[in-house]
Amino acid sequence: MRNKYRKPTNLCRNAGSRFSASAVVWSLVGCILLINFFSSIHQRDREGGQVQLRVSRHPQLRELQQVEEEENIRIPPPRGKRSPRAGKRRPKRTTTVIDEFLDENSQLRHLFFPSHKRAIDTANAGNESYYYYPGRIWLDTDGNPIQAHGGGILYDKKSTTYYWYGEYKDGPTYRAHKKGAARVDIIGVGCYSSKDLWTWKNEGIVLAAVETNDTHDLHKSNVLERPKVIYNDKTGKYVMWMHIDNANYTKATVGVATSDTPEGPFDYLGSQRPHGYESRDMTVFKDDDGVAYLIYSSEENSVLHIGPLTEDYLNVTSVMRRILVGQHREAPALFKHQGTYYMITSGCTGWAPNEALAHASESILGPWETMGNPCVGGNKVFRQTTFFAQSTFVLPIPGYPGSFIFMADRWNPADLRDSRYVWLPLIVAGPADQPLKYNFEFPIWSRASIFWHRKWRLPLGWRGFI
Ligand SMILES: *[C@@H]1O[C@H](CO)[C@@H](O)[C@H](O)[C@H]1NC(C)=O
Ligand SMILES: *[C@@H]1O[C@H](CO)[C@@H](O)[C@H](O)[C@H]1NC(C)=O
Ligand SMILES: *[C@@H]1O[C@H](CO)[C@@H](O)[C@H](O)[C@H]1NC(C)=O
Ligand SMILES: *[C@@H]1O[C@H](CO)[C@@H](O)[C@H](O)[C@H]1NC(C)=O
Repeated sequence: MRNKYRKPTNLCRNAGSRFSASAVVWSLVGCILLINFFSSIHQRDREGGQVQLRVSRHPQLRELQQVEEEENIRIPPPRGKRSPRAGKRRPKRTTTVIDEFLDENSQLRHLFFPSHKRAIDTANAGNESYYYYPGRIWLDTDGNPIQAHGGGILYDKKSTTYYWYGEYKDGPTYRAHKKGAARVDIIGVGCYSSKDLWTWKNEGIVLAAVETNDTHDLHKSNVLERPKVIYNDKTGKYVMWMHIDNANYTKATVGVATSDTPEGPFDYLGSQRPHGYESRDMTVFKDDDGVAYLIYSSEENSVLHIGPLTEDYLNVTSVMRRILVGQHREAPALFKHQGTYYMITSGCTGWAPNEALAHASESILGPWETMGNPCVGGNKVFRQTTFFAQSTFVLPIPGYPGSFIFMADRWNPADLRDSRYVWLPLIVAGPADQPLKYNFEFPIWSRASIFWHRKWRLPLGWRGFI
């Protein structure tokens, strides 16, 4: 897991094959990361500052920038030593920020997972209304933490309402066996509705686990991840696609369910290996012309597959393309701006955060080009860990072309139900940040930038489609 996290860093290539050499290098990396982490970060580094400047000319962003400037992003120094228990688990390794993040006894834990006291309470927010605080507990209109992890948002035109679907994980975290990943039994897919993208009403579990039949895909001992819902204009059905797996992730299939209403309940239709291949992290994307696509990590997560769905959205067709071959990406989130397709992905490091990449293409089936890390602001550690989170969805902000909400999960492997949501503004503007592989340096796409904000809100004029 951790080795993969380090793959993208330059220092990795310098690490010698001898153990002592690599230990020294990793100690250095650890120190550098820690220094970066604790150094005062309201002074942005040059790279971040330039991008910031460029994009702040974007008129729709002014308000976001102002909010940001009012706030100092400050991370207090550590209050004590790491817990002895964590030290025992990995005695030879230097502490890195990622270790601190994953260590449930870390003294820094409150920085990544602020306590309930600081929750976003949408029912009693006063003049804090409409502010997003990435990483804080987010309460629904009943005062309960929102349970919609690995989720996505559907805008329902009929009811002019947003629906947020995600994994309902309000159960105990455990390991199915010693080497298994931390997990929560399937409870189901949670659904929340909103008019303003900030106040969320719990619509209940719209696709529930199956308690008694242990051969059923939705039996609680299995895995249901990353549910996404799209509306089929031809059939009038709401169609949910989701990753269905067994506890050791060897089944690697994708499941489908449908409903006549966005609030469900959804009827489960079954699962398959699309195009005959493994399918793990996935998403669906509905294009302007009504054609929907399934995108999934395949071939041991080494490549993404993309292909159109049938007209009823209930199956894949025979058309499939392999994209980002050999890049080992997961958690894909697709969006489109001015005819160009964009995608944000993460690396494959389990629950540990890693560096996001942005990709772009003129055709949804590819070829896709990798543009680089879209994260801007915060400090270097924040940018190299996608703000300690993993992409799940990108939602266009209606009325603000080029402006999106980037939705990510800050997974908490010690207690997955307490994983947090990191929503941040994503802007498509400015030149690409990295030379692309095309020989003639053409086409050059706009940069997709995700801006760190400790606190932000949508532009004042925006209050949804009320
Ligand atoms: C409103 O904001 C001010 C500071 O701008 C703060 O002192 C006050 O406590 C806030 N009121 C509420 C109800 O949050
Ligand atoms: C259990 O689930 C399997 C797979 O969906 C199904 O074929 C079988 O009929 C179910 N058994 C019962 C008793 O419902
Ligand atoms: C994975 O789990 C399934 C049951 O959930 C089991 O049948 C299979 O043998 C396991 N495979 C491995 C490689 O552990
Ligand atoms: C989905 O399509 C494939 C061929 O592309 C076909 O073999 C399979 O039976 C279909 N599945 C369903 C549930 O219709």
